[in-house]
Amino acid sequence: MKGIVLAGGAGSRLDPITRVASKQLQPVYDKPMIYYPLATLLEAGIREILLISTPVDLPRFESLLDDGSQWGVDIRYAEQEQPRGIAEALLIAEEFTSGEPVTLILGDNVFYGDFGLERLVTEFSGGAVIFGYPVDDPARYGVVTLDDAGNPLSIEEKPANPASRLAVPGLYVYDGKAAEIARGLRPSARGELEITEVNLEYLRRGELQVVPLGRGIAWLDSGTHDSLLEAANFIATVERRQGLKIACLEEIAFLKGYVDRDRMEQSVAAMPESTYRRYLERMLDSAT
Ligand code: TTP
Repeated sequence: MKGIVLAGGAGSRLDPITRVASKQLQPVYDKPMIYYPLATLLEAGIREILLISTPVDLPRFESLLDDGSQWGVDIRYAEQEQPRGIAEALLIAEEFTSGEPVTLILGDNVFYGDFGLERLVTEFSGGAVIFGYPVDDPARYGVVTLDDAGNPLSIEEKPANPASRLAVPGLYVYDGKAAEIARGLRPSARGELEITEVNLEYLRRGELQVVPLGRGIAWLDSGTHDSLLEAANFIATVERRQGLKIACLEEIAFLKGYVDRDRMEQSVAAMPESTYRRYLERMLDSAT
């Protein structure tokens, strides 16, 4: 399974902070936002990743994340010239995925809690898998409706009168047909290739599965000033209480066995003095 992180977009709701750097490079408490979706992929065992961003921001991502070898993964980069829609990522990544299954995650999607993505990815046998997360304000999202057996009936993009409270988060698992489906799309009224249209095509083919995300899982929005602050406060609260970090890529890579102790010690030694470095030093000590 390959992974795509889509981290372009305008970030206009976060103006003026997104004039300095894109939304996904902004901090969520103690690390850049992009660490969180990357952590979701790494924890699911996905180690071949294409990061897509704007021509302006791509060099910043490259200098932050490098080729991924420090975490035992392979990160490559591609440009999205204009924010022409989430489904365009599937076209940009076509050569990278070369017909293999792929997990696409949006660079501003922060998940907390184990919802079985690793098993889902390992056991994935085709079609598409999306998720359904109950929210109070579904009209802001793609909304999925399920029948009594949990099968999807419809998906509507930002409906005025939502038929359910289940929003579709920016995390999608597709088989090798996704790029071809995306190629068949026309831009929507807002000028975008809509990911909802890709999901609807899988639904029409009877190949769409929706996994409900229940209590105990947090899916945090970070697209507005308030939701960005709330996400940071949430992460800070859990991290301070447990003394454990969320989405610490070095720790995940080490615990998953993607890098050995020597490699990890080298990375830590190269870090400036910080609470992040001290956390990793403590983690390495206690892992002996
Ligand atoms: P949005 O939050 O819908 O858009 P945005 O990030 O551009 O923000 P704003 O509405 O404030 O202008 O996008 C969701 C995620 O998808 C976000 O991480 C950006 C990314 N995205 C792209 O990378 N390219 C695109 O063409 C689109 C539509 C979104």
